[in-house]
Amino acid sequence: MKLKIRQLRNLVIAGLLFSGSLFAQENARIKIDIDRQIGEINNNIYGNFVEHLGRCVYGGIYDPESPHSDENGIRTDVLEAAKGLNIPLTRYPGGNFVSNYHWKDGVGPKEERPARMELAWARLETNQFGTNEFIDYARQLGTEPYFAVNLGTGTIKEAQEWVEYCNVKEGPYYAELRKKHGYPEPHNIKYWSLGNEMDGFWQMGHLNAEDYSKKAREAAKLMRLTDPNIKLIAAGASNFRPNNDPHEWNATVLAELRDVVDYIALHMYVGNHEDNYYNFVSSPLVLEERTQVVKGMIQREMEKADRGDREPIYIAWDEYNIWYRWRQDETMTGERALEERYNLEDALVIAGFLNAFIRNADIVKMANMAQLVNVIAPIFAEKDGMFKQTIYYPLQLFANNMFGTALDVYVDCDTYDTDEFYLGLAEQATQQNDVPYLDVAVSYNDDEVVIAVINRHKDKAIATDIISQEGLFDGEFEVYEVNGPDIKAENDFDKTTVETVQKEAVKTKKAEQFTYQFPPHSFTMLKGKIVR
Ligand code: AHR
Repeated sequence: MKLKIRQLRNLVIAGLLFSGSLFAQENARIKIDIDRQIGEINNNIYGNFVEHLGRCVYGGIYDPESPHSDENGIRTDVLEAAKGLNIPLTRYPGGNFVSNYHWKDGVGPKEERPARMELAWARLETNQFGTNEFIDYARQLGTEPYFAVNLGTGTIKEAQEWVEYCNVKEGPYYAELRKKHGYPEPHNIKYWSLGNEMDGFWQMGHLNAEDYSKKAREAAKLMRLTDPNIKLIAAGASNFRPNNDPHEWNATVLAELRDVVDYIALHMYVGNHEDNYYNFVSSPLVLEERTQVVKGMIQREMEKADRGDREPIYIAWDEYNIWYRWRQDETMTGERALEERYNLEDALVIAGFLNAFIRNADIVKMANMAQLVNVIAPIFAEKDGMFKQTIYYPLQLFANNMFGTALDVYVDCDTYDTDEFYLGLAEQATQQNDVPYLDVAVSYNDDEVVIAVINRHKDKAIATDIISQEGLFDGEFEVYEVNGPDIKAENDFDKTTVETVQKEAVKTKKAEQFTYQFPPHSFTMLKGKIVR
């Protein structure tokens, strides 16, 4: 009997020890040091993009037939939703569209504007919306216009004349034409990109890197002679295709245009092609790797460049998003092209892109979600209504809260390895090791610290100690969470399943650390103060 009791006691002790080692997991850690600074966050990373494609312009921002439109045909409900994104900069008018767009078709009396075959996306382009309509829209939205010139079928002269029309106050023909069209003051467009995806075989007027660089350099010369204050963006490699080394294109363009341009544009679209959640949510890390490679290439060229007192070249991720569902022939063209509907996992990927931009704030000074409405977009509209897609919410949180200096944070948490996967349809396969379940970026602005955390874990909450290395957390931390019942949850006209929810604030008082439990498949933003 005595023996049995002892055995029983030992069993209980062993059980307790075993369960202790199984369940007493250590918390993850995020260490924040306000002295470890990456660089200034440029607000232009919260930019957007409006292209004459599908129902982005016609039936999106502009729809004279809709009951929600004003007397100029502007969709006021879409405009209000767009205002919520606090968009500093909006790229226009394309995209692939721009490579056969002749801007003069879209100015002057509407009844005299020619309709054209739109060859990039197979529509009829009525030209009822053009330069001046976009400028009016941009002013209403409070966004800075960023124009792309046609270096496909367009000439360098046409590009120069567009700058003259937009930016020269008075005197020459095109400046006077703008005045005649009802705009006495210049539009002062600061940002101009020299073509779009000129490396792509699909681009109308596609060129090789040498020929593109020559044409871009001459266009830049004429455009700058017209307005010396403009900022120019070179078309970098758009896609990472097998047998087509993107670094070769970027190397040539950077070497040839290193004295001339202010940014190099990069594009990335990702998709959950194999329906593998963990692969998919790691894809923004590939953007981060590419950023680092191009940063090195820029640094190399800057050593040789003759730029006077101009800043070095920066990276503009001027198209990024998730785009894989509407990519079959019939969904790529026509009136309803690229009408991707988004879910929660897509929202987590967008948060991942934005975190990556913040973590590379020293070199990424512009980024544009492609696109604003209907076409791979955060806002989705039909004639009689609209709704905000899942991807709207992380972008809104970033664009309204994350400013100042990006901090270099230390994150200690569990990790996973992905399988081989494809980012985009034509991309080479990629693979990621040691992907942290927690993806973190932090900004610091006049005592205010904003901590952006994705918990990529599909099933587990992650308890995390958030530690300040320099200064103390003080006061209430506001908490905003984007989440939903499951990773495939979507929004629609009559249901908002995924959105930002303000949670109970975390109270701190001159504290070196606090603990927060990040729920599974969530994006959380914590906003409070660090005081010295
Ligand atoms: O954003 C959709 C298209 O994607 C753009 O027109 C083009 O630049 C890119 O290939």
